[in-house]
Amino acid sequence: MVVCICNAIKEKDVRAAARSGADSPCTAYAALGRRARCGQCVPFARQIIAEERAIA
Ligand code: FES
Repeated sequence: MVVCICNAIKEKDVRAAARSGADSPCTAYAALGRRARCGQCVPFARQIIAEERAIA
């Protein structure tokens, strides 16, 4: 599933970034060489990151 339409970032990419230490959508996107634009994806990205960090 695509999380961020503006940057074409997939859920698996956000999860991988979170497991690599990203603790916010901003840092996760930066780790992927991108940055948030419209911001619509931020709540969903934040939820995914929280899930990954809860597991880790
Ligand atoms: S959908 Fe992610 S910044 Fe627009």
